[in-house]
Amino acid sequence: MSSTPLLLEIKDLHVHFAVYGGRLKVLDGVNFVMQSGERVGLVGEAGCGKTTTMKAILQVLPTPPAVIPCGEIYFKGRDLLKMNPNQLQQIRGRGISMIFQDPTAALNPVFTVGQQLKAVIKHSAVRGRPLSADEVHQRAIQSLQEVALADPERLLKSYPIQLSGGMRQRVCIGMALATNPELLIADEPGTSLDVTIQDQVLRLLHRLVKEKNTSVILITHTLGIVREMTDRVYVMYAGNIVEVAPTAGLFSRPMHPYTIGLMQAVPRLTGGGVSDGIPGRIPNYLQPPTGCRFHPRCPHVMDICRQEKPASYQVDDDHYVACFLYRGEEGKGS
Ligand SMILES: Nc1ncnc2c1ncn2[C@@H]1O[C@H](COP(=O)(O)OP(=O)(O)OP(=O)(O)O)[C@@H](O)[C@H]1O
Ligand code: SF4
Ligand SMILES: [Mg+2]
Repeated sequence: MSSTPLLLEIKDLHVHFAVYGGRLKVLDGVNFVMQSGERVGLVGEAGCGKTTTMKAILQVLPTPPAVIPCGEIYFKGRDLLKMNPNQLQQIRGRGISMIFQDPTAALNPVFTVGQQLKAVIKHSAVRGRPLSADEVHQRAIQSLQEVALADPERLLKSYPIQLSGGMRQRVCIGMALATNPELLIADEPGTSLDVTIQDQVLRLLHRLVKEKNTSVILITHTLGIVREMTDRVYVMYAGNIVEVAPTAGLFSRPMHPYTIGLMQAVPRLTGGGVSDGIPGRIPNYLQPPTGCRFHPRCPHVMDICRQEKPASYQVDDDHYVACFLYRGEEGKGS
């Protein structure tokens, strides 16, 4: 491995939520690494823990109810879980910035777009030379122009409620990129928008991160977008990473039974209709299944799967699968 630290490294991360009736054991030992400049996808059914993982990175999980019983999260070699609030504040924005699924919730309705955008720009300059009011204004205008919003002067004076959903999502992207973050986390951007606008927003995001060479974690339910926009993909099921591979390899040769099911759930372009997807549902996190958490739904379940949790087996270059079916495959990668 190279001597430059990884951009992000998550080791054995567990996150629980203390709720009435017990503890939801949601994240169950997540491991995740990425290099600077990579664009990584994170996919998995609703409720599998994608947003929880991202919020844990940014340390924005509500505590209580969230508890992190164990795990380490390193950003450029520094453990985020051991940082004080000031150090974290510096990482948020310039280091890591996040675009949320719902742009309405991400913007504060009582402040204008300009007030919110300028606050982000000023915050990002705190450690460098302070910016003059005119410089902040110019940067705010530039951020709105970058996300292809017309009449930025007027937009700066508008309140979020005065904009359409697509415009609000563009403002959020502009805000997230205004600080030139090293890592952008895009959590289902545009999901609340109609399909055409969502497509435009994602294409815009794709163009901007390429131009700026920003590292990205992209969460989306649309596998076509993952295929187009990412270099590597993590597949998550019920709080575990079950498969990780370079994007092309994952799509040409999905190996975990869950990944295979996910891909079959995509509408077929060849006229075969839409498959039923994967029977069953994400488990109850109060009492998750023993062993492999996917075993109640898996068509290949074996005795061992009910008793032990599978390790992550290497099946090819950079391709790992957490499934006992591949136990004997280690070291056979080409
Ligand atoms: N604050 C919370 N309190 C209690 N449970 C929570 C909390 N936040 C998340 N959870 C639970 O954690 C589990 C994972 O949720 P999470 O939002 O991480 O899933 P996700 O993969 O992002 O799903 P989606 O695709 O729907 O966004 C869910 O069962 C959810 O109910
Ligand atoms: S470990 Fe067993 S239950 Fe889990 S995915 Fe593999 S075969 Fe299925
Ligand atoms: Mg989510």
